[in-house]
Amino acid sequence: MSGRIPQSFIEDLLARTDIVDVIDTHVPLRKSGKNWQALCPFHDEKSPSFSVSQDKQFYHCFGCGANGTAISFLMDYNNMGFVEAVESLAARAGMDVPREGGGTVRSETNLSEYHELLELVIDYYRCQLKEHPQAARAVEYLKSRGITGDAAAKFELGYAPPGWDNLISAMGGSDAAQQRLAKAGMLIQRDSGGYYDRFRDRIMYPIRDHRGRAVGFGGRVMDDSTPKYLNSPETPIFHKGKELYGLHQLRGTSPARLFVVEGYMDALALAQFGISGVVATLGTAATRDHMERLFRMTARVIFCFDGDEAGRRAGWRALETALPLLRDGRQVYFLFLPEEEDPDTYVRRHGPETFEDEQRYVPLSDHLLNTLKEGTDLNTREGRAQLIDRAMPHLGALPTGALRQLLIQDLARLARTEPEQIDPLIQRPAARGTQKLRPRPRHMPARGETMPMLPQIIRLLLRRPSLGQLVEDTKPLRTGPPGEVFLADLLDFIHSRPHITCAAILENWRGSAFEARLRELSGTQDDSDMDALDLEREFMGAMERLQAQRSRKERQDWLQGKRLEDLSADQRAGLRNPRPVGESDR
Ligand code: CTP
Ligand code: MN
Repeated sequence: MSGRIPQSFIEDLLARTDIVDVIDTHVPLRKSGKNWQALCPFHDEKSPSFSVSQDKQFYHCFGCGANGTAISFLMDYNNMGFVEAVESLAARAGMDVPREGGGTVRSETNLSEYHELLELVIDYYRCQLKEHPQAARAVEYLKSRGITGDAAAKFELGYAPPGWDNLISAMGGSDAAQQRLAKAGMLIQRDSGGYYDRFRDRIMYPIRDHRGRAVGFGGRVMDDSTPKYLNSPETPIFHKGKELYGLHQLRGTSPARLFVVEGYMDALALAQFGISGVVATLGTAATRDHMERLFRMTARVIFCFDGDEAGRRAGWRALETALPLLRDGRQVYFLFLPEEEDPDTYVRRHGPETFEDEQRYVPLSDHLLNTLKEGTDLNTREGRAQLIDRAMPHLGALPTGALRQLLIQDLARLARTEPEQIDPLIQRPAARGTQKLRPRPRHMPARGETMPMLPQIIRLLLRRPSLGQLVEDTKPLRTGPPGEVFLADLLDFIHSRPHITCAAILENWRGSAFEARLRELSGTQDDSDMDALDLEREFMGAMERLQAQRSRKERQDWLQGKRLEDLSADQRAGLRNPRPVGESDR
């Protein structure tokens, strides 16, 4: 291994990583207001003071002061080195770690550029659905499927017109633009050179990730031709098996239950019939990643797959995937539909009541026992032994807890034996090692010579980096003391990266003289109740006061060198009215 890991890769990696996922794998988190909470893994405590912010991508313990990014967490919790932690996160995100001066080749494009690009593509296709000369066909198709204008708007449906170069003509003005569109999955390269539109004559379903960022599309034909759906290929920002269609619309909510369906149309139809909290797996099996994410929003997940053989198989796979996750009162149910129906057709034929009727939800444990019983003759010892054998790996996958105990009791009853006889037979999964570390003494630098306004400004920028966009010119700061020069650097860093998080800022200054202070400022004060306007007002106020301090100081410096009679009339007038506009009474 040679060369350093480029800083741009660390930024990409953090953009593709959710600290809540990373920490939750090691330390189960619970939602508390906007943030996530747990007993601190870095010191012993009885009530949780360990808090993880998804916005900031930062954790902080109010008890022992431990804090940092997803990378710091792995370093501290797993005793990893920086490189090891980065490699571990990269493996999780399916990325190769490049090295400066060789190794893996990577594009220079920042991932947020792809998100912004796809945002424009969404607009383009939506616009085509309204304005393209042949859009009537698409509108007609949507109507024939019973999709209302409201639902189409809510799901941002669009239309990719027929033809090989519509998107290219609209958005691929230069070679570079075409390359970017191709990398984002929207164009396909011709063998003979050049590109053509991937999606042609299809209804377009934009796919957003759980943070609402545009990541890809599904496109459906309007007749019986194949393939019925075309999806974005795997791109730097799109991984089909990781996304859940419709999830972003639930951002910030904590629904009592969530439905998981298979298709775009199912999600749309249920939403249109007033059933909230529906996500679709895009036709892939529900993965552990999917479920972990869902269980972070709700304790009850209901799988409602198609009523065909494929749907039932998908249901069983979902059951097996869910078993190890069933702790802390998490519940999984199945809602089975008649053969030949999917949630879309069913809700249109029978209305939404079935979906809200809890009597119809089959608990996972019932489904498990019923399926295991199938084909076994419980009147024979052989049949009962077969049942126990079949059940063992599933019971072993369940975390110890009430559900497992109750299942063992029922199984014992069915097999006409005692729970105590079954328990020793269960195959236990390999115990997952959890190393506890002693809290690391945190260096808390004294406030020292930093000007009092500065920490407040930096704290706000870490809370919401986009505030930095409000400052246009950072040049005046560069003539100030080191703290202000740092602020200028920070603002310039933010300007070139509109979607940067607190964590990415911290990683950029890792190992510098500013690291400890930045980490400290990231964690202090719970300002989660501040809304966007408050934050803006406070930030601009602080910037103005900083500027006022600076001009006062400039005046003093200047006065020390000059006598009053040397001043011009203008300068003298300026001194008589020393309080600059915007300065408050402090
Ligand atoms: N799918 C896919 N590619 C295909 C078929 C299906 O990606 N060739 C994915 C889509 O996300 C689709 C989901 O699998 O929504 C479920 O497939 P299916 O049930 O066939 O589609 P529906 O959503 O029910 O669509 P429709 O009702 O229009 O047939
Ligand atoms: Mn369907």
